[in-house]
Amino acid sequence: MIDAHAAQDAREQPMTEQKLTVLPTDNKEQAAFSHQEVQNVPFLDIKRDNSPLLEEIQQAVTDVCASGIYVLGPECQKLEKTFKEICHVDHAIACSSGSDALLLALMAIEIGPGDEVILPSFTFFATASAVWRLGATPVFADIDPVSYNIDPAAVERAITPKTKAIIPVHLFGQCADMDPLNQLAHEHKLYIIEDAAQAVGAKYKNRPAGSMGHMSAFSFYPTKNLGGFGDGGLLTSTDSQLADRLALLRVHGMRPRYYHKVVGINSRLDAMQAAVLNVKARYLDQWTAARQKHASRYHELLSMTALSQIISLPETTDGCKHVWNQFTLRIPNGKRNALREFLSNQNVGTEIYYPVPLHQQECFASLGWEHGSLPETEKAVEEVLHLPIFPGITEQEQIYVVKNIMNFYRQEGLLDTTYANDRKVA
Ligand SMILES: Cc1ncc(COP(=O)(O)O)c(C=O)c1O
Repeated sequence: MIDAHAAQDAREQPMTEQKLTVLPTDNKEQAAFSHQEVQNVPFLDIKRDNSPLLEEIQQAVTDVCASGIYVLGPECQKLEKTFKEICHVDHAIACSSGSDALLLALMAIEIGPGDEVILPSFTFFATASAVWRLGATPVFADIDPVSYNIDPAAVERAITPKTKAIIPVHLFGQCADMDPLNQLAHEHKLYIIEDAAQAVGAKYKNRPAGSMGHMSAFSFYPTKNLGGFGDGGLLTSTDSQLADRLALLRVHGMRPRYYHKVVGINSRLDAMQAAVLNVKARYLDQWTAARQKHASRYHELLSMTALSQIISLPETTDGCKHVWNQFTLRIPNGKRNALREFLSNQNVGTEIYYPVPLHQQECFASLGWEHGSLPETEKAVEEVLHLPIFPGITEQEQIYVVKNIMNFYRQEGLLDTTYANDRKVA
């Protein structure tokens, strides 16, 4: 395991712009970087990952067509059962999207005007919009600069008598630091809603994402580790009363039919989505293992060169299982955008999650968050760059990606990579 604190200390040293020289001791590195077949690498190739399963998926969809049950029903129940197993919880409630899952969770605990909910600003919009839509106030807390997840110390500082809940986001596939967050929730009688949209299968000290809060939200948006053929979401819960309320709110608060106990929403999951997800769920462990292998390979390739002295590689927190929804680099010295453009010109797809933190979004301007109020978040949005990582990415594609990062730094005059054979020729 990587010592996160040592790595953080190292990063705090001023980055010198000296020229780094790499002189491999054998030809292994040259062999690794000499392949030329690959000419482009997509950021994500969902079709590639889905294509071996198409026959199975088509059969599952045909079966749903024949069943006449198109909303909720047995396919959704099967998916819910799978999530109870994955998350080691007693309750799972499928719904229309991860965004709705967050909204339903907040509705279940009657969040409304006058309430505050603490969450990171460095996350997808839906984490905060669910709070806003209910008339409550999102209160943004800064992140830990290594894991990018919400910093429990910042959460503690943000707690007021109005605080009702905390939403830790397990960003990029790695769990937030749940022990201190649960401790704070316990001390201040707060609810915890895990935003596990990016983290199906992740673990924190042997506890699965989706098992550590009162409720947890998952997303089946196609780019997620378990992605459907459209939108979909699911909630897990450890509390039977909350689970019952979630199931009620998901269907307009209706029980029995046409008798409405509370005002809910329509957030039923389609049976076809559930059927697709039930097929794909059988491959989830194997895809997670592939993502982990690809993450290790990036680490290996980037560490083989001096690149790992210039850029920061993502780290797995001790005792956690990272499921690598994203492979996140930090590119210092203001070079992130130039590197991204260079890679794009070499047909390497990259992404920036997220270019604008939520506290600086136009729609939240009335909350009055000033520039500089969340320094780690604001630094991260300037520096992060996500490399292609998906189950079907090939070794040659990863080599092409890393080789082009090297070429960028070579062009910048920061990296001098001389291979053993080059030296012989010279
Ligand atoms: C962290 C996070 N929360 C919530 C969501 C919302 O999920 P969905 O797109 O299924 O509504 C997403 C998905 O994009 C996400 O990444």
